[in-house]
Amino acid sequence: MFKVHNKLELNKMNETLIIGMFQQNRKLSGLAAELDQLLDGQITELMKEGDLSTKQKSITKLHTLGRLGIKRIFFVGLGKELTFADGREVFGKLFKTVQQAKLQDVTIALDTFVTEDFDRSEAAYTLAEAFALSTYKIVDYKQKSNEPEKNIETINVVIDGEELDEIKTALEVGYAFGNGTNSARTLTNMPPNLLTATELANYAIELANKYQFEYEVLEKEEMERLGMGALLAVNQGSEEPPKMIVLKYQGKDDWTDVIGLVGKGITYDTGGYSIKPKAGIVGMKTDMGGAAAVLGAMEIIGEIRPEQNVVAVIPSTDNMISGKAFKPDDVIVSLSGKTIEVLNTDAEGRLALADGITYAKHHGANYLVDVSTLTGGVIIALGNDTTGAMTNNEQLFEQVLQASHECVEPIWRLPITEKDKKRVRNSKMADLNNSPGREGHAIMAGTFLGEFAENTPWVHLDIAGTATTSKETDLGPSGATGVMARTLAAFVERFETGE
Ligand code: BES
Ligand code: MN
Ligand code: ZN
Repeated sequence: MFKVHNKLELNKMNETLIIGMFQQNRKLSGLAAELDQLLDGQITELMKEGDLSTKQKSITKLHTLGRLGIKRIFFVGLGKELTFADGREVFGKLFKTVQQAKLQDVTIALDTFVTEDFDRSEAAYTLAEAFALSTYKIVDYKQKSNEPEKNIETINVVIDGEELDEIKTALEVGYAFGNGTNSARTLTNMPPNLLTATELANYAIELANKYQFEYEVLEKEEMERLGMGALLAVNQGSEEPPKMIVLKYQGKDDWTDVIGLVGKGITYDTGGYSIKPKAGIVGMKTDMGGAAAVLGAMEIIGEIRPEQNVVAVIPSTDNMISGKAFKPDDVIVSLSGKTIEVLNTDAEGRLALADGITYAKHHGANYLVDVSTLTGGVIIALGNDTTGAMTNNEQLFEQVLQASHECVEPIWRLPITEKDKKRVRNSKMADLNNSPGREGHAIMAGTFLGEFAENTPWVHLDIAGTATTSKETDLGPSGATGVMARTLAAFVERFETGE
């Protein structure tokens, strides 16, 4: 896929040459000037005529008509400055264009994309991540056409220097982050008849085998024995058996300072007896987006192998209706021992996650991050571009926030007050209720989960608005976004206990 070279040989190897061009006031410099000279000043001419723009994200294709060893050149406009976030967009647009042109072998002059704030390694990381993200295709079930697929096969990255290993590593890491995100997208887009809890568990086991993770998949009988009454209640109406999926990655000598990643794995959410309206049900196959993010992060972690300990926990079932299903007014006993009065069977995610969080603690989690498509409320509060966050620990939150910045996956914090806690604890029948009403209901869901995190530092990420998108972008198609796979992995990679 990626090949790194330390010298650009203009008369060899280049099917397609890609160079970045910043807006410059005066004359062309560097490689652009060199090419201009070889082409008798034609690049300068094109720019004068307005046929070649250096505006950020503009891409101009130029055929050399056999004048150089290179068949064609793509000039990529970079504007005046290039930030890390801009870089992703630019490379995304570039690879989308290259893919559409069905070109299979490209050569990129990496140094032409570099600035003071965007160094070579960052550019290489970004290039590889954007390549994976932007060329991602939805796995569909359409009959295949006869047209042969043409995908990019070789990306030659050329630098003017000797730091080939450094660049190789940056490319590999960026590619791993992109691919982990794509895996999360694929899982989230899968139809619910094909991605059952059993299949999700099988996928996790495959991942474990590939990356030598320890794993455990609890069956219904074991859950009953352990008393996972909250997850089991959600599963009660289903023909599909529930699974509690656990993956362990040990990157330290001892099983200490363990980070627990808990992902909501509801493979389909009908709402149960508090049934959703028919328009609201469509799309609820994505209610395992949190689980997908955790598995995507684990894939990245398996690739980059940081010196950290991670336990991933995914409570999984669908939320269905039958004569056996749980009902509003039921009182259930969670794994923690806390009892819950069910007021709304559509507030099922917090029930499944309650047992997931407790079980992560049983496996030694000292820090917790849960990710879940938890509430429609968070979409009303923050829209579709920002993930909602809640926490009981400033330091841990800061680290998750930092990672989210680095990965350009915005999060925004919502509060949890003592009054909020009172509302989730308000029940005549049980310790907690699962649905205290519409006011601030994203906060209610987070507050409920906080009752199970207890004193363990914890961050909650509600991705109901960000797990899917209705718009295609330069970094991927509409549908599942794979959001938070990267942020979780980056958070794990850089995690510090603060002691
Ligand atoms: N899975 C939904 C949340 C959701 C809504 C995800 C829209 C993605 C898009 C969750 O289980 C749910 O039904 N939440 C309810 C909670 C309510 C009953 C307290 C909601 O947000 O309406
Ligand atoms: Mn629901
Ligand atoms: Zn749900």
